[in-house]
Amino acid sequence: MIVCHCNTITDRHIREVVDELLTEMPTSMITPLVVYQALGKRSRCGGCLPLAARLIRDHLAARGIKRSAA
Ligand code: FES
Repeated sequence: MIVCHCNTITDRHIREVVDELLTEMPTSMITPLVVYQALGKRSRCGGCLPLAARLIRDHLAARGIKRSAA
């Protein structure tokens, strides 16, 4: 599913980057902007940020982590 139409970022991209960030920076806050930066992208219109935040939160929760600022 396309989450960010401006940057063609999918839910799969987001989940993969969250997993990478959890390995590389296990104590850092993972926000949509952090994820986009890791993908070499940046927010443009911002319309996707609420959905991206929810995907990050749900992905972290599925791993038993409740520390996202998303
Ligand atoms: S839809 Fe993601 S920045 Fe526009």
